[in-house]
Amino acid sequence: MRPVTAALWVAAMLMGLKLSGSSPDSIVDRSSKNLSFVPRDLPPTAESVDLSCNHIQKLHRGDFKNTSLLRFLNISWNSLDDIDPGTFLDTPLLEDLDLSHNRLRNLSAQRYLLHTENLLVLNLACNRFLTMTLGREFSSLVKLERLALGAQNISAGDFKNIAEMKLHTLTLSLENELSYTAGSLKDVHAQRLQIASTNDQIMDHYVVDDALSLFKEVELMDLTGGYNALSEQLTERSEILTSHLYLTNISINWKDLTHYVNVVLLTSITHLSASDVAIYNLPYIDTKVTKTSEMKSFEARRAVVKSFFFSQEAVYNFFINMPVKSLAITETSIIHMTCPKSQSPIVLLDFSYCALSDSIFSRMEGQQTVECENLENVRKLTLVGNNFKKLLVLSKRVQHMKSLQHLDLSLNSLVYDGVGECLWPPNITNMTLSSNGLTDSVFKCLPKGTETLDLQNNQVSVIPPSIFKLDNLSSLNLNANRLRDLPVCNGFPILTALLLKSNSLHAPSVNKLESCPKLKTLDVSYNPFTCTCALSSFIGLGIRSEKTKSHTEIKLLSWPLDYYCTYPEAVRDTTLKDISIPEVSCNVFLLAAAILCPAVVMIIAVVTLCHCLDVPWYIRMIWQWTRAKRRARMRHVRPEDLVGVEFHAFVSYSQHDADWVKNYLLPNLEGYTGGLRICHHEKNFVAGKTIIENIIGCVEKSRRSVFVLSAHFVKSEWCHYELYFASHQRLAWGSDSVVLVLLEPLPQYLIPSKYYQLKSMMGRHTYLEWPQDRAKHRLFWANLRAALQTDLPDAPHLAPWPVVLQEHHHMAERQVVTTVCEGTELIGPNGEKKKAGSNHSQDIQQPLPRFCYD
Ligand SMILES: *[C@@H]1O[C@H](CO)[C@@H](O)[C@H](O)[C@H]1NC(C)=O
Ligand SMILES: *[C@@H]1O[C@H](CO)[C@@H](O)[C@H](O)[C@H]1NC(C)=O
Ligand SMILES: *[C@@H]1O[C@H](CO)[C@@H](O)[C@H](O)[C@H]1NC(C)=O
Ligand SMILES: *[C@@H]1O[C@H](CO)[C@@H](O)[C@H](O)[C@H]1NC(C)=O
Ligand SMILES: *[C@@H]1O[C@H](CO)[C@@H](O)[C@H](O)[C@H]1NC(C)=O
Ligand SMILES: *[C@@H]1O[C@H](CO)[C@@H](O)[C@H](O)[C@H]1NC(C)=O
Ligand SMILES: *[C@@H]1O[C@H](CO)[C@@H](O)[C@H](O)[C@H]1NC(C)=O
Ligand SMILES: *[C@@H]1O[C@H](CO)[C@@H](O)[C@H](O)[C@H]1NC(C)=O
Ligand SMILES: *[C@@H]1O[C@H](CO)[C@@H](O)[C@H](O)[C@H]1NC(C)=O
Repeated sequence: MRPVTAALWVAAMLMGLKLSGSSPDSIVDRSSKNLSFVPRDLPPTAESVDLSCNHIQKLHRGDFKNTSLLRFLNISWNSLDDIDPGTFLDTPLLEDLDLSHNRLRNLSAQRYLLHTENLLVLNLACNRFLTMTLGREFSSLVKLERLALGAQNISAGDFKNIAEMKLHTLTLSLENELSYTAGSLKDVHAQRLQIASTNDQIMDHYVVDDALSLFKEVELMDLTGGYNALSEQLTERSEILTSHLYLTNISINWKDLTHYVNVVLLTSITHLSASDVAIYNLPYIDTKVTKTSEMKSFEARRAVVKSFFFSQEAVYNFFINMPVKSLAITETSIIHMTCPKSQSPIVLLDFSYCALSDSIFSRMEGQQTVECENLENVRKLTLVGNNFKKLLVLSKRVQHMKSLQHLDLSLNSLVYDGVGECLWPPNITNMTLSSNGLTDSVFKCLPKGTETLDLQNNQVSVIPPSIFKLDNLSSLNLNANRLRDLPVCNGFPILTALLLKSNSLHAPSVNKLESCPKLKTLDVSYNPFTCTCALSSFIGLGIRSEKTKSHTEIKLLSWPLDYYCTYPEAVRDTTLKDISIPEVSCNVFLLAAAILCPAVVMIIAVVTLCHCLDVPWYIRMIWQWTRAKRRARMRHVRPEDLVGVEFHAFVSYSQHDADWVKNYLLPNLEGYTGGLRICHHEKNFVAGKTIIENIIGCVEKSRRSVFVLSAHFVKSEWCHYELYFASHQRLAWGSDSVVLVLLEPLPQYLIPSKYYQLKSMMGRHTYLEWPQDRAKHRLFWANLRAALQTDLPDAPHLAPWPVVLQEHHHMAERQVVTTVCEGTELIGPNGEKKKAGSNHSQDIQQPLPRFCYD
C-alpha cells in the first residue's frame, strides 16, 4: 500500500471509530461490573443506564447530576438500602426505574419519588419491605402505568395513596409467609393484576379471591402447583369480574391443566390464555372436554411437553373440541391437528408458528384420506409459519370450510406445480400466501372469489395471460417477487391496488396499465430501474401521480423517494424524478431526424465537393493508370509476339479531330516528352499502297490501336475499324490492344446499335476522357502513356520520321474505292462525293463482315 493510501485508510478508520463510538452514547451498560457506587463518568448524553447486578448500596444526591437526559435506569440486583431523597433531582425525564431485588425496607419512606413525577414504570419488587403501606410520595406519580411491588404483610389501606391512580398493570410479587388481609386491594385501580408467586408458593386464597372480584384481567405468573385449589376456588365463586385470565410461565400436569380449563369453561371468564407452559404427564387416551361454554377464546403460546410417551391425538383432540369461538395455539411444536368430533363452533382458528404438515385436519382410513367436515364455521384460518408444502393438498384440507373467508398461509414452503385442480371453498376473499415458494402457476390455484391476494416474497416472474378470471380481485400484493415488467390485468378487471415493490422491473411498460381501468394505487418502489429512454413514460407516470390530486389517476406509492436508478452507473442512486432523459434520444422520429439531417448534409457536401473538384475523374484516371501499370507488369510479352512490331500505337481519328491529334496527342506521346512511337496512316504513309493497306500495315506494326472518339468519328469512321477488328487477328489479343480516347462526351444512344463492339467497350468504361480543364491534362497524358508503354525492339528504319502531309490523304483516297459503310460520304479520286455502298473496291482483299451492311 502506498503511504498516501495508507494514511487515508487510517484516517478513515479513526473517523469510523469516532462515529461509531458516538452513536450509542445514549445507552450505557454498566451491569455486572462489581461497582459499589454510581460511576462518575456517565456520559451527559446518556438516556438509558443499566447498573444492575452490582454492589451499589447507596444512591446520593448528585449521582446523576451529569445525566440530565436520563429516561431509563436499572439498578436491580444491587444492595441498595438507602436512596437519598434528592437523588433524582437532576433527572426530570426519568420514565422507567427498576429498583427490584435490593434491600430497601420501608415503602412509606421512598421520598426520592417526590422528584420522579414523569415515571411511567416503577419496579420495587423483591426488596425487604415488611408492610405494603405505600407512602404519600406515591401519590405524586401521576403518570404511572405500571407498578411492581412486594411485601410480607399486606393489609387494608396499604394502597390508599395510589387510590386516585389509573394503573395499567399492578404486579404483586408474593413473598414467603405472606400475610394478606382480604380486601386490601380494593383501593387499587388497574386494568390488569399480575400476581407473581415466588419460591413455589401456592397462591394465597384471599389474594386470588380479591383478584377475581376486583380486576378485569388477572395474570397468574410463575405457578408450579396449587392448581386444584385454584380450580376449586373458581368453581365455588358465583361472581367473577375477571373476563381475561392469563397463566404465564407455569408448569402443570395434563390432568390439572384439562381440569382447570374445563372449570374455566364453565365460568363467566371469556378469554383464557396460557403462555410459556410446560406440560407434564401427557395422556394416552382422550380427555373429556366441556361441551358448551360462554368462553370466547382460548390461546396457548409457547407450550412445551415434558413427556416422551403419550398420544398426540388425545392432546390435539382436547383442544380442537373446545367449545370456543376462537382457538389459537401458537409457537408450539405440534405437528398435526385433528378434526373436531362434531360440528365445531370455532370461527377463528390460529396455528401460527407451529410445525403442522399437509395432513392437517385429515385422517387416513386405509388408503383413503378423510377430509374434515366439522369446521364449517371457521371464517378465518391462520396457518403462518408451519411446514406446509403443497398448495393443492391444502386446498383439499379446507374444502369443506364453507364459511372460510380469510386464509393466511404465509411463511410456509408451499409450492404448486400447475398440475391438478385446487378445491378451495367458495367464500374465500382474503388470501395470504406471502413468503412461500410459489411460482407463476399459483394463479391457476386460487379461490375464484379472492378480493385481497398477498403473494409477497414468492417466486412469481410473470402473471400468465391464460389464467381464469379473479373477477373480484381488488388488491394484489406481489412485493418481493421476480417480475420483470408490469402485468396485464386481463384476469383482474377490478384491480385497484397493485404492489410490486422489490421486483426486477427495469423499465415498466406503462402501456400495460391500460388493461387495468380501475387501478388507483401502484407501488413499484425499490426496483432496479434502468434509466434509459424506455423509462421515460414511467417517470411521466410518477410525476403525474405526484401532481394531480384527481381520483382517476394512478397513485404511485413512495414516489419519489424510493424510486432510483441502478443503471447506468453514472446516475446510480439518483431518484427517477431527478433524472433527465433528453427527449431527442427517446423519440424515434427526432432521433432519426437528428442523425439523418447531418448525414444528408454531409453527403450533399461531399457530392458537391467531389463534383467541383472532379474527384471521380481523378479517381477513374488513377485507377486506370494503376491498372495499366499493373497489366504491364503482369503480362509478360513474349519476344516472338513483338516480331514486326515497330510502333507503340496506331492512332486513328476523324478528319475533324486532326487538329487535336497534331497539336496535342502526337507532341505528348512522341519524341522527347512521350518517348513513344506512334503510327498513323497519314504520317507513316507508304507510297504505292492503298490507304486501307496503309492502315492495315500500320495496325500490324503497332502494339496497340488508339481511337480518338468523337461524334464525327462515330458517324463517319468507326465502321472502318470494325472491319479491321474483324480482319486482323492480332487485335484479338485482348481488350488492352485497343485504347479509346473520348474527345467529347459521347452518350451511348449516339452510337448506332450495329457497332456493338464499340458500345460494349464504352459500356465497360475502358476509355480515357479528354478533360477540358487544363490542370488535368498532365494526368491524362501520363495515363495514356502508361496505357501504351511497352518495351519494343528498336526499329532502326523508322527514324527519321516522315513528314506528314495532308495531301497524302487525297492521294490515297484516289486509289481507294471503299464502300464499307452505307451513308458514309466518301471522297472520290477526283474530289467528287459518292454515297457509300454504290461502288465496290477491287482492292479489298478480305470478304466484308456482314455487320457492316446492317
Ligand atoms: C469487587 O469489588 C470489591 C471491592 O469493591 C473487591 O474486594 C472485589 O475483589 C471485587 N471483585 C471482583 C471479582 O473484582
Ligand atoms: C460530572 O462531571 C464533572 C466534570 O466532568 C465531574 O468532575 C464530576 O465528577 C461528574 N459527576 C458525576 C456525578 O458524574
Ligand atoms: C434490569 O436488569 C435486570 C438484570 O439484568 C433484568 O433482569 C431486568 O429485566 C432489567 N429491568 C428492565 C426493566 O429491563
Ligand atoms: C418507615 O418510614 C416512616 C416514615 O419515614 C416511619 O414513620 C416509619 O417508622 C418507618 N418504619 C420503619 C419500620 O422503619
Ligand atoms: C406482619 O403480619 C404478621 C401476621 O399477620 C404479624 O404478626 C406481623 O406483626 C406483621 N408485621 C408487621 C411489620 O406489620
Ligand atoms: C418462570 O417461573 C420460574 C418458577 O416457576 C422462575 O424461576 C423463572 O424465573 C420464571 N421465568 C421467568 C422468565 O419469569
Ligand atoms: C358465503 O358468502 C355469502 C356472501 O357473503 C353468504 O351469503 C353466505 O352465507 C356465505 N356462505 C357461508 C357458508 O357462510
Ligand atoms: C386479509 O388478511 C390479512 C392477514 O390475514 C390482513 O392483514 C388483512 O387486513 C386482510 N385484508 C382484508 C381486506 O380483510
Ligand atoms: C364477486 O362479488 C360479487 C358481489 O359481492 C358476488 O356476487 C360474486 O359471486 C363474486 N364473484 C365470485 C367469483 O365470487
